[in-house]
Amino acid sequence: MSVLFPKWFNSFPTLAAVGGGGFLLTAIGAFWYWATPAFWEVGYQPIQPVEAFSHQIHAGRLGMDCRYCHTKVEVSAEANVPNVATCYGCHAEKRLAAWSTQRVSLVREAYAKDASIEWRRIHKLPDYVRNFPHNVHLAAGVSCYSCHGQITAMPVVHQVQSLSMSWCLDCHRNPESRLVPKDRVTQLVWVQNFLENRGVAAAGAMGSGGSQQPTPGDVVHSLKRQPPQGCGACHY
Ligand code: HEC
Ligand code: HEC
Ligand code: HEC
Ligand code: HEC
Ligand code: HEC
Repeated sequence: MSVLFPKWFNSFPTLAAVGGGGFLLTAIGAFWYWATPAFWEVGYQPIQPVEAFSHQIHAGRLGMDCRYCHTKVEVSAEANVPNVATCYGCHAEKRLAAWSTQRVSLVREAYAKDASIEWRRIHKLPDYVRNFPHNVHLAAGVSCYSCHGQITAMPVVHQVQSLSMSWCLDCHRNPESRLVPKDRVTQLVWVQNFLENRGVAAAGAMGSGGSQQPTPGDVVHSLKRQPPQGCGACHY
């Protein structure tokens, strides 16, 4: 007689029970995770027109500096979003053909029609707050990282800070621990490392007679003025 049910088949009911149980647990776990506010309140992240222009690709993997696209961020209050021509410089018809997909065609169509891409605005302060000055913050050594998070790892940008008044004031009262050397403000990976390891760096500096990296104490001397706390600085 042929072996209809081989010997290993005896363990099938057990395997099925364990497997089924595992599936059930996963389902409950998934519901638990995605149904909680912790998941839904991670940050405002609207759907963008070029399905996810990826900062992770452009600023992360390709290592492009923020100022390549946000050209005015150091010199004006406003951080501009790039126009289509900036994208087209790399994504013109015959360029980067190997990578070109449906998504890139949106850039080309917009360029051909002399139209702009309608990006959804993510970070927005209420109108009763004065023009937020990007240039002043960058010149003082506050990195994009402190306010926008690790953008170079974001396929789609989302808001990571509350941008509430107490958030602004928390830093204005005690900016020292967030300052970095001015020429590093757009190097977000370096900055994250620096800010997270500052305790270690300070300890190293004490123990072994100086480390290569500047300590926050060194950096704070670059601050011209104490950040404002008076209502008039931020409100009309
Ligand atoms: C290749 C061009 C390019 C580069 C380089 C780039 N960005 Fe952007 N950025 C854009 C575009 C386009 C948008 C609008 C679409 C979006 O929100 O993803 C944007 C949006 C943003 C936003 C959200 C703006 C809002 O609506 O509130 C932030 C914050 C931002 N960029 C920060 C950075 C930082 C920080 C860097 C450097 C690490 C950087 N960007 C590098 C093109 C670029
Ligand atoms: C300095 C050159 C350069 C600039 C400027 C640039 N890109 Fe790119 N982009 C690339 C390269 C290279 C890739 C492919 C990266 C990869 O997949 O490794 C890419 C990939 C993409 C993709 C993903 C394609 C896909 O389907 O996977 C999209 C969408 C895109 N870019 C849109 C834009 C937009 C929108 C802008 C302007 C805000 C822009 N790019 C500016 C070089 C550039
Ligand atoms: C001290 C905090 C802070 C720093 C540092 C900072 N930003 Fe912002 N950013 C903001 C706030 C707040 C807004 C919303 C401003 C508003 O609504 O007027 C914003 C808005 C933006 C926008 C949207 C502008 C628009 O018109 O759609 C972009 C793009 C942006 N930031 C890029 C950057 C880049 C790139 C850097 C670093 C070079 C940077 N930011 C550094 C706080 C910051
Ligand atoms: C991570 C730290 C940090 C955060 C967060 C921050 N600021 Fe500041 N801000 C500074 C520093 C540092 C200065 C001082 C710059 C100088 O004068 O050297 C400053 C200065 C200012 C000034 C004075 C500009 C001038 O011309 O003198 C204004 C206005 C301001 N911040 C508004 C805001 C608002 C509004 C927010 C919240 C949406 C905010 N800041 C969040 C660090 C921060
Ligand atoms: C460093 C900048 C800054 C300073 C200084 C500041 N504010 Fe604000 N304030 C903000 C921002 C940003 C918001 C918007 C918060 C939001 O979107 O939730 C705000 C919101 C408010 C609101 C609306 C209600 C709320 O709490 O959200 C009131 C009222 C207010 N501020 C009053 C004041 C008064 C009074 C002072 C002086 C004692 C002051 N602010 C100083 C940045 C500032």
